[in-house]
Amino acid sequence: MTAMALAIAELIQQAQQRLSHSDSARLDAELLLAKVLDKPRSYLLTWPERQVSLDQQQQFEQLLSAREQGQPVAYLLGQREFWSLSLAVNNSTLIPRPETEHLVEAVLALQLPEQARVVDLGCGTGAIALALKSERPQWQITAVERDARALALAQRNAEQLGLALEFCASDWFSALPVAQQFDVVVSNPPYIDAADPHLLQGDVRFEPRSALVAEQHGLADLAQLIAQAPNYLRSGGWLLLEHGWQQGAAVRQLFEQQGYKQVSSQHDYAKLERISSGQWVE
Ligand SMILES: C[S@@+](CC[C@H](N)C(=O)[O-])C[C@H]1O[C@@H](n2cnc3c(N)ncnc32)[C@H](O)[C@@H]1O
Repeated sequence: MTAMALAIAELIQQAQQRLSHSDSARLDAELLLAKVLDKPRSYLLTWPERQVSLDQQQQFEQLLSAREQGQPVAYLLGQREFWSLSLAVNNSTLIPRPETEHLVEAVLALQLPEQARVVDLGCGTGAIALALKSERPQWQITAVERDARALALAQRNAEQLGLALEFCASDWFSALPVAQQFDVVVSNPPYIDAADPHLLQGDVRFEPRSALVAEQHGLADLAQLIAQAPNYLRSGGWLLLEHGWQQGAAVRQLFEQQGYKQVSSQHDYAKLERISSGQWVE
């Protein structure tokens, strides 16, 4: 049978049926077709009767079968929005999550010097550091990452957005000079227990374990950051951490044991404790 050029609306309808396992099947189909056509999503709605060339249908088919196998849409598009910034993403690191925008809000809500010095540990795509820099251009922000590909990705994002950060390849604080004193240390570190069944579901299956999983039921990296941050915080500086929704009490205890002041957790929109913070006072 000779292949036929189909219209946009037909292709979306067929794709939506194929992706019916996804709870965002139509959106996924539209985003993938828009990528192939190199047009905004609104184009698909404005021109539903436009024919799609066979070459483009073939490209769409490849993306659809990858999506059918569970590949995250963000990896297929190579892009994700975070804090109104368009970030390049790839499988070297986590796809930035909307929940993490609360961490950005929490940092912005602090009383800080005009030219605050901030470090984002485990910057991944650069999401947190870049969102902060976009809001506070006068801050000096360092983005730290252990994974070389992720660090290169964050550097590329900074360049594309025209936002100047300092970058440091480092295993947490290890490559930062001890004399460096920050007003804020912020991090969304790996915090999932290796036995968590969610690791076998949805997009997370395709994200690197090194970005997700930590020892000690997910608490090992959080504990390490809480223990080491006082060496890098000026007196009165803050450590803010994202963590799992059931880890709030354990994380507050770690902050308190270490001697931080004003230890508290904040809820996200779903009323789950996802961020904890403490102030270091000498
Ligand atoms: C949960 S992801 C967060 C990425 C990004 N900050 C975000 O919020 O989207 C954790 C990041 O920490 C990095 N990471 C894990 N262990 C690290 C370590 N010991 N030192 C530095 N970075 C680390 C991972 O490579 C990953 O990019």
